[in-house]
Amino acid sequence: MRFFLIFLLTVTYSFGATVVKVDERYQDSTKCQTCHKRIVNEWKNSWHAKSHFQNDEYFRKSMEYVSRKTRKSLNSVKIECATCHNPRITVTKTTQDYEIAAVMGLSKGSKVDKAVNDDSIDEGINCVVCHNVDKIHDEYDEKKRGMDRVEWTPSGTMTGPYSDAKSPYHKTIHHDFMDKTPNRLCFVCHANDRSTRGLVFTNMEKEYKGEQACVECHMGPRKQDVAATFSFNGEKKIRTVRNHGFMGAHFESMWEGALSLSIENKNRDILVTIANPQPHNIPSGFGGRELILDITYKDNKGEVIDTKTISLTTKYTRKREKPSTPHMAKAQSKDMSIPAKGSKTLRIEKIKGTKSVDVKLSYKLVNDEVKGLLDLEDPIWSKKFPITQTTIKVL
Ligand code: HEC
Ligand code: HEC
Ligand code: HEC
Ligand code: HEC
Ligand code: HEC
Repeated sequence: MRFFLIFLLTVTYSFGATVVKVDERYQDSTKCQTCHKRIVNEWKNSWHAKSHFQNDEYFRKSMEYVSRKTRKSLNSVKIECATCHNPRITVTKTTQDYEIAAVMGLSKGSKVDKAVNDDSIDEGINCVVCHNVDKIHDEYDEKKRGMDRVEWTPSGTMTGPYSDAKSPYHKTIHHDFMDKTPNRLCFVCHANDRSTRGLVFTNMEKEYKGEQACVECHMGPRKQDVAATFSFNGEKKIRTVRNHGFMGAHFESMWEGALSLSIENKNRDILVTIANPQPHNIPSGFGGRELILDITYKDNKGEVIDTKTISLTTKYTRKREKPSTPHMAKAQSKDMSIPAKGSKTLRIEKIKGTKSVDVKLSYKLVNDEVKGLLDLEDPIWSKKFPITQTTIKVL
């Protein structure tokens, strides 16, 4: 019996994340605002701040879909997804007893329901997620992500890029992954995103080309400013700082120059080449994103003869080839993304009487199939973000 107990303990220890409760003084960004106002304001507009079921319709409906299809309670799915989306949650597992109680509507007031609905996690990936990471276990199995891959600092100790920072409000500690090797921090979550069936639909770490720091593009170049408006002797302490906007696919400005387009005549065809100078694939990140090529054929008067649309997206299927969301997928279609620092060339036929062809490249956050399955309503999911366009005279 004793042997069995010890065995159980080690198993729970090595598979479950260790929770460190965050003291109320540090829990949310309003507590940091007095001294780090600029940073708090920048972060508020980021999608890290929206990583919670109340604030991201796509995320919420994806969890509801998983819960319906797996017949697991919604709260246990929320806990699974919290590993990366809400890693300061205080409950990391649900039991069979909980599942039964949840089905019978008797789970209200339970530890699990309280943890899932607690205000302390509704800011998603907030300050005390990144700045309370104390250790990153790169040696762990690559499936372990988010809270299962890190150890937290004691509540009230902020990890940061400086080795000489002093604050009256909190302790500070320097770690290399805050300045020298920041990609390690990003890859805690931006890697090995997998479905409930074990299909890895995104792996930014694997596809990444080169050593460039994610923060160079997603937190902007280093600039000179104060890190905190509070100072001990009234003098401004100028530091190198970065923007906390973490802008990505949801921001039109990020798409300017993200991809380039070139076309050429080739016998009876036109070759369209999409080149990706970025170090990760595009689309990348979350599965179900879509690139769209709109092709317009015009005659010598400039009148439209024909149009064509080509979609570059990945389709997901669950059992018996039924369409699925990335998170319920058993299989996926061929990867249609433009590889990191690479390109893809598509061949399109010339149509008789064509004198010129316009090609327009744009992007959608979610393809129509997944949008339909989840019944996404917010206009952002239908929006077509323009990337670039070009025209060619047909020879
Ligand atoms: C009363 C003012 C005050 C409050 C409130 C405050 N800080 Fe700070 N913080 C500072 C000062 C001062 C520094 C040091 C700045 C410097 O040395 O340039 C600092 C530094 C930091 C650093 C950099 C540490 C390093 O070693 O590189 C981080 C990260 C940080 N704070 C996070 C937070 C977070 C998160 C909160 C909210 C939970 C918070 N701070 C609340 C004053 C404050
Ligand atoms: C604790 C896990 C975690 C860590 C650590 C993390 N991210 Fe994220 N990141 C997420 C999640 C989850 C989302 C999606 C949130 C949503 O859309 O609801 C996201 C979204 C993003 C986006 C997309 C934003 C958009 O507008 O489309 C970018 C860019 C990004 N993160 C960059 C970074 C960078 C750079 C780092 C490292 C400094 C980092 N992340 C660290 C979990 C994390
Ligand atoms: C996704 C991870 C992530 C989140 C969330 C995050 N930070 Fe940071 N923060 C970083 C990284 C990485 C750096 C180091 C940037 C550099 O200098 O290369 C940094 C730097 C800082 C610094 C030093 C000054 C600066 O601007 O570089 C302070 C202070 C700070 N963060 C406070 C905060 C506060 C307050 C919040 C919440 C509103 C927050 N951070 C949210 C990753 C994060
Ligand atoms: C050279 C600049 C550059 C670097 C370095 C870079 N990115 Fe990006 N990233 C972009 C651009 C441009 C986009 C916008 C196009 C897009 O959304 O695919 C983007 C988009 C994203 C998105 C949203 C993708 C989507 O379609 O949902 C995520 C997430 C992201 N980056 C994370 C990272 C992480 C993590 C790293 C480091 C491992 C990184 N990026 C390094 C330029 C960069
Ligand atoms: C391995 C860490 C990880 C886990 C676990 C995880 N996610 Fe994510 N998720 C991410 C990251 C990182 C992003 C941001 C990628 C991007 O923007 O391209 C993201 C983005 C998303 C998005 C896109 C949101 C948007 O606004 O476009 C949805 C939807 C989503 N996740 C659903 C889920 C669901 C449902 C679960 C649980 C079944 C889950 N995720 C579990 C890391 C994770």
